[in-house]
Amino acid sequence: MELRDVESDITEVLFSEEQIQGRLAELAREIERDYEGKDVLIIAVLKGAVMVLSDLVRELKFHAHIDFMAVSSYGSSTKSSGVVRIVKDLDAEIAGRHVLIVEDIIDSGLTLNWLIGNLESRGPASIEVVAMFRKPEAIKEPVDVKYVGYDIPPAFVIGYGLDYNEDYRNVRGLAVLAPHVYGGEDPHA
Ligand code: XMP
Ligand code: MG
Repeated sequence: MELRDVESDITEVLFSEEQIQGRLAELAREIERDYEGKDVLIIAVLKGAVMVLSDLVRELKFHAHIDFMAVSSYGSSTKSSGVVRIVKDLDAEIAGRHVLIVEDIIDSGLTLNWLIGNLESRGPASIEVVAMFRKPEAIKEPVDVKYVGYDIPPAFVIGYGLDYNEDYRNVRGLAVLAPHVYGGEDPHA
């Protein structure tokens, strides 16, 4: 779905699909350099990170294995509490392997910190994170993210996998959702 198809639901286009693809290609070159000759398992957190994962792994020039996790935050459905329940666990064992977590967006950082702690307890050789977007002003807990696509303002954004009530995930590009769609207060704040 093109950004012009949702023009009345957005206030600003932050990045076009072409810009995102270009930035992702740059990150892929860094990742190829850093993981040369290593056995890497790329893990995406459902559902938002599916677009980043799919574009990233096809850009990579090495054999990347992929796996998925689904987690759910306790508390309000939109606010991140940092208390997380695993809805779908990995199929793969990660002990001794190099793990690269792919995230759509880092907001407070609470979900990701919980995930890193959970995966670390399984004894991987290493864990790094690639996040397509990050809101530095919204961070509540510092997270060590090695590869970041773009830092963005703390507005609620949609597209490129990111949703509002499961809508807009298939919008190409990233845009700020108009407040009239969600009735004022940032759904994730
Ligand atoms: P935390 O706060 O734990 O949350 O870093 C990360 C998760 O929250 C969702 N999130 C958003 N989803 N537009 C969205 O569609 C946003 O602006 C936004 N900010 C955070 C997202 O699921 C992310 O993985
Ligand atoms: Mg979401």
